[in-house]
Amino acid sequence: MSRVAIVTGGTRGIGEAISLALRDMGYTVAANYGGNDAKAQAFTEATGIAAFKWDVGDHQACLDGCAAVADALGPVDIVVNNAGITRDGVLAKMSFDDWNEVMRINLGGCFNMAKATFGGMRERGWGRIVNIGSINGQAGQYGQVNYAAAKSGIHGFTKALAQEGAKVGVTVNAIAPGYVDTDMVAAVPAPVLEKIVAKIPVGRLGQAHEIARGVAFFCSEDGGFVTGSTLSINGGQHMY
Ligand code: CAA
Repeated sequence: MSRVAIVTGGTRGIGEAISLALRDMGYTVAANYGGNDAKAQAFTEATGIAAFKWDVGDHQACLDGCAAVADALGPVDIVVNNAGITRDGVLAKMSFDDWNEVMRINLGGCFNMAKATFGGMRERGWGRIVNIGSINGQAGQYGQVNYAAAKSGIHGFTKALAQEGAKVGVTVNAIAPGYVDTDMVAAVPAPVLEKIVAKIPVGRLGQAHEIARGVAFFCSEDGGFVTGSTLSINGGQHMY
């Protein structure tokens, strides 16, 4: 039977490319989404991939959502924590709500999804969790104390859970994308974005499928010896 994968934020942007890449590997994919019903419906019509709506920042909604996926498609073997938001602004202008929403969804979502699925993976002795971090969680970014903190937290979360998963067949890894051509990056004011792109050695934004390729590797059968690892895919913008 085909392995079942959930991709959060899986109907748009980088998540859409990940859903397609995992489907092309022969996995049965459930694409979670949080709000855009019209886009999710169009995605399912175009790809045949089922879409499931819930808020990854809501703990109970994750437990219920993952149970619904398991009922519909089978036990969940793979989780890609991709869903994320930005609420950019300098600290002086950032509200507590801007801080809290980014932490709740971007970092809390990883915890909620792991709580819902890690136990089953452990019992079956096989699992793959891939968390989408960010270059801005590694290097920081002006105007993103919330996002950089959440993404940095994702990198720590990954390494900690990898230690728990190692002896039970569950790998936990992270991707740190740089600036990728998505709606999220398009929301950065054009003059600011121009300056950022000028600092990318490869000389362009990344493409969503270039991130998905890395996720696919972590999720493969052959990836069993890779855990606690972070793969940077950023056009050379941050080397360390
Ligand atoms: N370093 C130092 N100073 C900077 C700076 C930087 N990187 N960026 C801006 N400034 C300075 C400006 O020069 C300006 O200085 P003066 O007042 O002396 O002229 C001051 O900060 C204010 O800048 P803005 O006019 O841009 O201020 P603002 O309040 O209108 O906007 C901001 C602030 C919202 C943070 C805006 O600069 C911005 O959107 N920056 C981009 C943030 C970013 O990169 N977000 C990434 C989103 S995509 C993503 O997150 C995906 C991923 O994982 C990569």
